[in-house]
Amino acid sequence: APTAGGGASVTGARDESAGPALEPTERVLKLWRSANAVCFDVDCTLTVNDSLDLLAEFMGVGGEVAAVTSRAMDGSMNLEAALEERLRIIDCTPKDIKAFIKAHPPESRLVPGAKALIAALQARGVAVYLVSGGFREMTLPIARYLGVPPDNVYANRMNWQWDDDTGEPTRLVGFDNSEPTAHNQGKPQAIARIRRGRPYNTIVMIGDGITDLEAVQVSGGADLFVGFGGVVRRPAVEAGADWYVFDYKVLLDSLKRYKVAMVGSGAWACAAAHMVAQNCAGDDPADEFADEVRMWVYEEDCEGRKLTDVINEAHENPKYLPGVSLGPNLVADPELLSTVADADVIIFCAPHQFMRGICKQLIGKIKPDAVAVSLTKGMRVRREGPQLISEMVSKYLGIDCSVLMGANIATAIGREELSEAVIGYSVRDNALLLRKLFQTRYFRVSLLADVAGAEMCGTLKNIVALAAGFIDGVGLGPNSKATVMRQGLMEMRAFAKALYPNVRDETFFEPCGVADLIATCYGGRNRLVAEEFARGMLDGRPRSFEALEADLLKGQKLQGVLTSNEVQEILVARGWETDYPLFTTVNRIVTGRNPPTDITNFMEVGKIAEATETVEVDEN
Ligand code: NAD
Ligand code: 13P
Repeated sequence: APTAGGGASVTGARDESAGPALEPTERVLKLWRSANAVCFDVDCTLTVNDSLDLLAEFMGVGGEVAAVTSRAMDGSMNLEAALEERLRIIDCTPKDIKAFIKAHPPESRLVPGAKALIAALQARGVAVYLVSGGFREMTLPIARYLGVPPDNVYANRMNWQWDDDTGEPTRLVGFDNSEPTAHNQGKPQAIARIRRGRPYNTIVMIGDGITDLEAVQVSGGADLFVGFGGVVRRPAVEAGADWYVFDYKVLLDSLKRYKVAMVGSGAWACAAAHMVAQNCAGDDPADEFADEVRMWVYEEDCEGRKLTDVINEAHENPKYLPGVSLGPNLVADPELLSTVADADVIIFCAPHQFMRGICKQLIGKIKPDAVAVSLTKGMRVRREGPQLISEMVSKYLGIDCSVLMGANIATAIGREELSEAVIGYSVRDNALLLRKLFQTRYFRVSLLADVAGAEMCGTLKNIVALAAGFIDGVGLGPNSKATVMRQGLMEMRAFAKALYPNVRDETFFEPCGVADLIATCYGGRNRLVAEEFARGMLDGRPRSFEALEADLLKGQKLQGVLTSNEVQEILVARGWETDYPLFTTVNRIVTGRNPPTDITNFMEVGKIAEATETVEVDEN
């Protein structure tokens, strides 16, 4: 903004006698926290002085220029004419400007806290613009120092006389008045131009002057104006501002800090919490996530003590993921509702059979604008058709739900081994936020605009993992396993696309597709239990999946058998059994209607007879 004069007091600090700063209303705070772009005025907003006045002083014409500035500020001279006049008096060369910038580098002129606020905004993905009534020549070094790209700088341009011989600019001959910032109401025009380039939902203008306040007074301009009185306090600006601050710390402290809750405490829930808690740890006001992460723990006994107490003392879940720190900032809570009540981000990672009960309890009990992500692999089958867990969360709770799916064996991630996952999303901004929550140096997260495809991959690969386990159990090698895996992948894709026609082919080549399939078929729990099941059958000591799950997984839950039954219900209801020979064969083996050795005969599924009697298995 044009600077000093017009009755303003140049204090550099707040005048306490003038009463309290405006407190932001709920509406104002909400707009500030949801800003997609923040436009800063430069002179006396980001800098403790006005560039042109300082340049005038540097050139030895400070008093003369200040008199013109004053006339612009009290309205007796228009902005454009005043700029023209000030430049005429200053009459500098490009060399003078270079020397001026050297004498007054950006770091010597910045308002304390401005750099930290801009860094925090940018870290949150908020675009930062400088919209200055000053000159580009002097604004660009400030932008560079603040990490604001030159394309995001709106300012006036000086016009130079060029030397025909050297091709160099020599003398200042006025300025280019085609820039919006050269005129009154230039800031809203500049913002309207920004909007045309990028359709931001919410744009905030921060500045000290009347020309900055104009940004919200013209339609198409900013959505919120924050007045800054830390350098120059102008009563008219203060009176018109939505919010008036004297210190950037107030704005920094008011940025949203997302509170995160994890629903689930099994092996994968704990491995994911290990990463999330690391990313949330710390109390820096610039952090996007609150330090404390709450985890809902299905309460159970752990060697005579409550599991939640053990987790809160040892910062580790010895039952489901021993040896992996959950971090001192993770708090285990046995109450589902208190875990999620304040949460802005809710991570669902409970075995899929419990998810409906969980969602029903949460109806009307969460923040309406919470962001959800499901790590659960599985689906629900209802009479009217299947329901993905992300669909269930969205339907019951009325919030957007992304999914995080990949080759993610929990114990390996607990050891911080290189892994990758996708976030399947419908709302990209939510996915960007979630990526910051999960991504670590060893856990790579990419974004995929195919929620159903990613989630169907995570769900259906558990059936193929059973097939891989049967192959291992009957003693066959890698060729046979690769055969069922390839067939499984084809059936996964066909089934996912049959139910959700928008599912994309490329999704099956993403971390959630073929990569998860490989990891699960070699290192997963479904494979392990299926192998033991097949071995038991062949050795004449058949044991049920339930017994093997309890014995081998010690409380962890197998999802593949339930999913196989759920998918088969759909295949039978739609008459698709022979179209999915591997899925159907797996289900016949799981339900004891065919021996595990029939896994190699899956292509003959229409021809091979089902056993009329199922094999008696040991339930213990
Ligand atoms: P888990 O199988 O290790 O543990 C089971 C969890 O269920 C425990 O936390 C237990 O307390 C809880 N539980 C038991 N009874 C319950 C009830 N009645 N209501 C609610 N919860 C109950 O859990 P996990 O590994 O975190 O798996 C959760 C989801 O993540 C599953 O869908 C799984 O397929 C998926 N997943 C697992 C892994 C992995 O490597 N373990 C990897 C990726 C995805
Ligand atoms: P299992 O449940 O078969 O171990 O699979 C884990 C998983 O989903 C890995 O991505």
